[in-house]
Amino acid sequence: MTRVGVWLIGARGSVATTAVLGALAVRSGAAGRTGCVTERPEFAGARLPGIGDLVFGGHDVSETGLRESAERLAGAGVLPAHLPPALADGLDRTERGLRRGLDDVSGGVRRGDVDRLEADLREFSEREALERVVVVDLSSTEPRPGAYAEHTDADALEAALDTGTARIPASSAYAYAALRAGCAFVEFTPNTGPRLPALARLADRSGVPWAGSDGKTGETLVKSALAPMFAARALHVRSWSSVNLLGGGDGATLADPANAESKLASKARGLEHMLGHGPDGPLHIDYVPDLGDAKVAWDHVSFEGFLGARMSLQFTWSGYDSALAAPLVLDLARLAAHAHRQGRSGPLPELAFFFKDPVGTREHGLAEQWRALTSWCAAPAEEAE
Ligand SMILES: NC(=O)c1ccc[n+]([C@@H]2O[C@H](COP(=O)([O-])OP(=O)(O)OC[C@H]3O[C@@H](n4cnc5c(N)ncnc54)[C@H](O)[C@@H]3O)[C@@H](O)[C@H]2O)c1
Repeated sequence: MTRVGVWLIGARGSVATTAVLGALAVRSGAAGRTGCVTERPEFAGARLPGIGDLVFGGHDVSETGLRESAERLAGAGVLPAHLPPALADGLDRTERGLRRGLDDVSGGVRRGDVDRLEADLREFSEREALERVVVVDLSSTEPRPGAYAEHTDADALEAALDTGTARIPASSAYAYAALRAGCAFVEFTPNTGPRLPALARLADRSGVPWAGSDGKTGETLVKSALAPMFAARALHVRSWSSVNLLGGGDGATLADPANAESKLASKARGLEHMLGHGPDGPLHIDYVPDLGDAKVAWDHVSFEGFLGARMSLQFTWSGYDSALAAPLVLDLARLAAHAHRQGRSGPLPELAFFFKDPVGTREHGLAEQWRALTSWCAAPAEEAE
């Protein structure tokens, strides 16, 4: 049996907990596979690792255990109430494999920090006898890096780590440790992670693939289906206004304008590419604690047709972010492991389908992204290996 490790950064958060519990539920037959893209027939020939063959570990800085986190999500209606107690043993086993993350990087990241993260990954791989490990960043959204991007080459970054002066965000320290440990990396948040120029080059050199960034699960997903329609029908979108209301841990983090900045930038990027111009209209993210783990997005699109006729489209999206994101985490782990097995390194543009701000491509339209993903997975095995 091929066992693939999935190391989650932010392992006790809502998305991570839902992904771990979901995989345990699928493996035991307690739940179905609705929402898992890679369970569709288009992926049957790719011989992806099975959901039941995924083994979880991870880093977090929170003291709230996985079981408690799962019970909270069940209480909020995101998870079926019977699942956390039924799968308590599996949750506890995963909990025992979690390690302390890297919380305060304000004074600079030291080599010892990265060495510790790397050692945790290597120990996980050996302890669980894994074929390979995919690291997925599911940690809180970080403030947008300003001074961070100064390390443009890998040697300068190495030197800064030696003197404890590496000005990199925690997500990049995790990505660096993953590259050093030979693990594929998935940046599911808007965090800088492996996008730091020094790391992007290192990924090419070290033969490790990576994908990102910022999972496309709700309002941006709908936008990426609708915007190409307006463009293809030669309808002129005059303004596109978006209001996002969310509670939960992610909402609390994004209530800080410094953290919201990276999410807003990542959400805004696609529309201009898909429409060929940047329409007017505000893009808001507001924290409403009462909503808990639910999220509501309301969009108003004003567009112009033949002879200047003015029309509009409105939609409301209500969803549980974690339930939408968790199956994609399982998909991405399987697909990144597949790419690694194929010997791919550097960015994986074929995985753009899953992201708001995809690396390695400027394609944001959902249908085109789906074609790129499925043709890659349909490639004959001998071509792929
Ligand atoms: N849910 C979605 O649909 C969706 C979509 C795209 C992106 N995301 C992103 O995924 C991430 C997780 O979302 P969530 O709802 O699970 O948030 P959450 O607040 O519930 O979980 C975040 C977890 O990260 C941990 N953490 C914070 N700093 C850390 C560090 N330095 N090292 C290790 N762990 C750290 C926290 O303790 C917490 O357990 C967020 O960045 C969010 O923006 C979510």
